[in-house]
Amino acid sequence: MSASLRILISAGPTRESIDPVRFISNYSTGYMGVQLAREALRRGHAVEIVSGPVTEVFPSGARVVSVESSQEMERALRRRALRADVLIMAAAVADFRPARLAITKLPRRETVTLRLQATPDIVGRLPRRTRQLIVGFALETGRALMRAKHKLKAKRLDVLLAQRANGARGPFGRHPVDAWLLVRHRPGAGSHVDPEIVVDRLGLVSKQEIARALLDKIERLWYGQHGVTAS
Ligand code: CTP
Repeated sequence: MSASLRILISAGPTRESIDPVRFISNYSTGYMGVQLAREALRRGHAVEIVSGPVTEVFPSGARVVSVESSQEMERALRRRALRADVLIMAAAVADFRPARLAITKLPRRETVTLRLQATPDIVGRLPRRTRQLIVGFALETGRALMRAKHKLKAKRLDVLLAQRANGARGPFGRHPVDAWLLVRHRPGAGSHVDPEIVVDRLGLVSKQEIARALLDKIERLWYGQHGVTAS
């Protein structure tokens, strides 16, 4: 039995069109996705990336699918999700999109009101396989840990990397971030016991260290549950 995993990673921001020349997005650079892909490839895993528009360059060993909007990202992930042993949702999916797309360019006015609607939660809607590991990322401000624990349960994730927003551009890009690693241990099938959440405080860490910590955790969970040792 091959011990390498098929890891699907989402990365970068999404762009939600306002009109033919404008969009809503965020400061995500794709750097976290690059570090995750590098670390996974270094360990011998197969890596596929679905990425929004980024300037960072992904390692050549990974297969990269480029998308723009959250809708395109969901479609691309949906096509690949069931083939993956592990899904890592590192993408900073735009939380809102304009309720209506303007067909022609909006003229400049003193004030413009845009009506926004929430984008669907992609990770919560993707088809899942039994034993698949789902890893999410969370960016929090106040009461970070409490919110992260809630997100882990609400989105039915196995692992969540929570980061505290620290400054104008939050944790985006290459600087270190204040992070926690949360793991939800699923009880056995048929059990009525609530899943146990274990929190590991990583402190101020680089994206490379986060990638290492996540891949260590993923391998431990996976090989633990499958009774195989990593090659
Ligand atoms: N995510 C997703 N689809 C969305 C938004 C987020 O799949 N439309 C994923 C992200 O890729 C991430 C996780 O959900 O892995 C948490 O993202 P976050 O933005 O922190 O969660 P939200 O549900 O948007 O909550 P918040 O109100 O805190 O922004």
